[in-house]
Amino acid sequence: MYIVLGTLFTACTGPVTPEEPVIPPVEEDTTRVDTATVVVSPTTRPELYRPQVHYTPHHNWSNDPNGLFYKDGVWNLYYQFNPNGIECDFGGMSWGHASSTDLMHWQEKSPVLYPDGMGAMYSGCSVVDKDNRAGFGNGAVLAYYTASGEKQVICLAISTDGGETFWKYEHNPIVPSTGLVNFRDPKVVYDPHRGRWTMMVAKGWDLGIEIWHSYNLMQWDFDGIFRVNTERCNMSQWECCDLLYFEQADKWVAVVSINPNGYITGSSTMYFVGSFDGVTFTPDADDYPRWLDYGADCYAGVTFDNAPDGRKVMIAWMNNWDYAPACPPSAWKSAYTLPRELSLKQMGGHWVLCSTPVSELDKIASAWHDAATGMENIGGDYADAWEAKITLSLANDATITLSNKYGNEYVIRVNAQQRIIYCDRGGRTGEFNFSTLFAVPSMSAPIEGNEQYLTLDIVVDQSSVELFAGEGSTCFTNTVYPRSIYRNITVDGIVTEMKVRTLETIWKP
Ligand code: FRU
Repeated sequence: MYIVLGTLFTACTGPVTPEEPVIPPVEEDTTRVDTATVVVSPTTRPELYRPQVHYTPHHNWSNDPNGLFYKDGVWNLYYQFNPNGIECDFGGMSWGHASSTDLMHWQEKSPVLYPDGMGAMYSGCSVVDKDNRAGFGNGAVLAYYTASGEKQVICLAISTDGGETFWKYEHNPIVPSTGLVNFRDPKVVYDPHRGRWTMMVAKGWDLGIEIWHSYNLMQWDFDGIFRVNTERCNMSQWECCDLLYFEQADKWVAVVSINPNGYITGSSTMYFVGSFDGVTFTPDADDYPRWLDYGADCYAGVTFDNAPDGRKVMIAWMNNWDYAPACPPSAWKSAYTLPRELSLKQMGGHWVLCSTPVSELDKIASAWHDAATGMENIGGDYADAWEAKITLSLANDATITLSNKYGNEYVIRVNAQQRIIYCDRGGRTGEFNFSTLFAVPSMSAPIEGNEQYLTLDIVVDQSSVELFAGEGSTCFTNTVYPRSIYRNITVDGIVTEMKVRTLETIWKP
């Protein structure tokens, strides 16, 4: 059922049933060229697929976000980076760097950590040492990184200039080596109940997370290992992790990225709600794993240290190990998700870890426009990115179609009775045959709680669609490679409210 809204409305294309990927007939998009060298003019966009409201390094390969911290008004994002090229070169892995004062506009900086005799610079975290517990000065930034050589060890690098440059601690490794080949991706969090820091270290194919603690951020003592016995969680390597304390709920949440065999394919992120006594993390229930995001492209997400007002702001890698090296962009490879605010909510009798775009998104957004049940040509021919908010009655099924004039489509279906959301990231979405694992026509996830209305918040960029449904309790983050951004949206269902706004580019060519 739909209401026609003047010329903004486009006819609904009807339900899409999961099927083998098909290549849509496409015309050449003559306004788009895949090169970083073309000068931007108001009518041409220089690079096909370059995200306009998501951070990407100008050039080269990148993966996991690393060492996120906030200090003195600046948000710092480091990430796995190949300074020398577009290939995923594990031996040359370094820490790239970008910073932002508003979580939206990022300035790319020089990389801060390069490989050394102990190995490549794999993932890790940062802590702002406000009270000089470690002895490098008030406000020194301590980066705990993985040196990945023959085996993996946890090392320390220090910055006293707000994270612009780091030097490596002379007595590395900082955590006594356990001799494990897989011992990586440390995440250090403050434990307010015990007045000390906890370090989580992922054990890769050895499964589980090691828990350590320290009172001075320098001497670390081993507490134990968090792992679960469910086969679903143990078919994959345990990688980047986080531990979050939600004060109002008095709950701890362990977040663990796993790869391969994720929820959809390849890489996914699990979470466990439970209690933590400073030594042992115990999940509340045995209905794990629960998934932070049901799409294919939200991996290795971690939160910022020292975020103001106790905010839990996460950024994840918007790609998947199943196909990241093969994905189409040729100057850069991998973008990062929008920064997301994490919260823990009771829904339908259990705690759900919810993610929503940070409110800073408003700073790059136009006013909202009512859209009835659809809108065409959003943002005009030179659309940067846009967002739609749709409230549906769950008395009926609904189909939401995002499309462009080249016949590319991304379809979201809501099965109201079964309370399931489906996303079709199949062959109609755009370029897909760079990997046999990319096209997944039918991704599905439950609608949490018992509400009779569902609000979908959809952020569309040049090569991604992020869906935050039900206050962020069901999320799908997917990359897509259409010939131009999807500019049209139609909804077939009972829409009680729908509005659209455009998002202004943050990209500086
Ligand atoms: C996760 C990961 C980490 C590792 C890094 C290497 O994506 O495999 O476990 O530290 O990437 O780049």
